[in-house]
Amino acid sequence: MAQIINGKEVSASVKASVAKETAQLKDEKGIKVGLAVVIVGDNPASRVYVNNKKKACEEVGFQSFEYALDESTTQEQLLDLVDVLNRDTRVNGILVQLPLPKHIDETAVINAISPDKDVDAFHPVNVGKIMIGNYSFLPCTPAGVMELIASTGVEIAGKNCVVIGRSNIVGKPMSMLLLHKSGTITICHSKTQNLKEVCANADILVAAVGRPNFVTADMVKEGAVVIDVGINRLENGKLCGDVDFESVEKKAGYITPVPGGVGPMTISMLMKNTLTAAKQQVGLE
Ligand code: GUN
Repeated sequence: MAQIINGKEVSASVKASVAKETAQLKDEKGIKVGLAVVIVGDNPASRVYVNNKKKACEEVGFQSFEYALDESTTQEQLLDLVDVLNRDTRVNGILVQLPLPKHIDETAVINAISPDKDVDAFHPVNVGKIMIGNYSFLPCTPAGVMELIASTGVEIAGKNCVVIGRSNIVGKPMSMLLLHKSGTITICHSKTQNLKEVCANADILVAAVGRPNFVTADMVKEGAVVIDVGINRLENGKLCGDVDFESVEKKAGYITPVPGGVGPMTISMLMKNTLTAAKQQVGLE
């Protein structure tokens, strides 16, 4: 029976250390940390994420600046706002919630955010830095996964690590972070042959597919660390991951639940990145 990795607990400890440092910055140097979150339109899932980010800012003592823009906002108006936020010294980090409405080019918006304030680490400058292993910000979800793996005490060096999914937000940067820790990495995707065999060889398996219960027990090695990045909403309204928890739990060594695994980590890593951005902007790091 696998040990459950408690994302809420690990996330709370990351937030506690961010809160402590934030209070010190304020008391000792008079520096306040600020995060701007921009949401365009009224996608309900995005609304939930943005509210959670605002709540986390309050918990760690950041100022949060929220810009809720109408669905009809033009790309030019959004780029103008990003420009204003890039120059606003109260704002250390900028997050534009994705997805954006169809008429707005996401790449153009991401590219307009100052790399120094890009706390999502989506800007090509930050993506490039991750590739060469010289980074200030790590993309929040993969960074959260690394913290969860670290919490198990399982060494990554030399292990077979399999990442299912090749997105720019999760799969690709996830693979790089595991590689920086000297794992042997396989990235699987929709065209991968013998997926079951490849996964069953993984000491560390990260599922970021976006398909409910995609990873079944026959795809998992006995004792493996299984990290579930998926958040899928079933027809009955329940949340479910990419891993068939019930069967995989019996075989894995460690497993993350959904909810309560990777989800809480993404936000705490965003808080960590924003603190790092603030320190860098005043020359402290
Ligand atoms: N939409 C879903 N996940 C994310 C994220 O990590 N950052 C942003 N900006 N938008 C998202």
